[in-house]
Amino acid sequence: MPRKPIIAGNWKMNCTQPEAIQLIRELLPLVSSDDLSDRVEMVVAPPFTALAAARQELAASTISLAAQDVFWKQSGAYTGQISPAMLVDAGVRYCIVGHSESRGRFGVPEPDFDETVLRHFGDSDETVRRKVSVLFQFGLTPICCVGETLAERKAGRTDATVIGQTERALQGLTAEQVATLVMAYEPVWAIGTGEVCDAPEADRVCGLIRATVERLYGRTAAERVRIQYGGSVKPSNAVELLAKENIDGALVGGASLKATDFAQIISAAPHR
Ligand code: 13P
Repeated sequence: MPRKPIIAGNWKMNCTQPEAIQLIRELLPLVSSDDLSDRVEMVVAPPFTALAAARQELAASTISLAAQDVFWKQSGAYTGQISPAMLVDAGVRYCIVGHSESRGRFGVPEPDFDETVLRHFGDSDETVRRKVSVLFQFGLTPICCVGETLAERKAGRTDATVIGQTERALQGLTAEQVATLVMAYEPVWAIGTGEVCDAPEADRVCGLIRATVERLYGRTAAERVRIQYGGSVKPSNAVELLAKENIDGALVGGASLKATDFAQIISAAPHR
């Protein structure tokens, strides 16, 4: 069965409620054809504070709502956190977890650490695993991010990093759950830098994630799991990336904040 491409816009820490409403109102007329929604699944991930406004604007559309993170407890004394039950209540269907901007490497020196690339919100492979698992308990679908830093790539550790992060994030899931989730390969050095991972290499690493899923969860899960590429996806490179066999969509940051760019990226999804 062919995999339906999924294009998600990760707005990160952008958009007040009026800005979110405006962005969605600009986007909707550009992506509302039946042909497009048959061919590609569309998702936007506003910040928590704009979820309610976005939900209202999207009510009559085929675009799904995603959150950018979740905590793994249902409720309690966890100041600043958002529970999976709250995301269900907010009308969310997908949730990004393990984004490199949310992961941290406390105690591990990072030669390429850059203050402008915030990677210190403390997610570890273990917290990512808990978040993935709790999302399934609440009927939400994770968009689980993995990817190597520049230092890891330079040290020849790309494959080991991506395979290890994938194995640990999915630990304890059933093959059926893995089949329905979304993985996102986001090389850290390509995020927000304008530097895109070239399409053959992005395809190769996405293939590696699929092979890891096959080894651990079997052929059917590997054939069904959707794997996005993320990192400086733009209208100019989307067609080539999305045409690749192992790339089933894109997780788009900066370009998702411009309705025309995001619509062009969505339109670049192939017929499958
Ligand atoms: P950019 O598209 O801005 O590089 O961001 C990618 C990303 O991190 C999406 O989650």
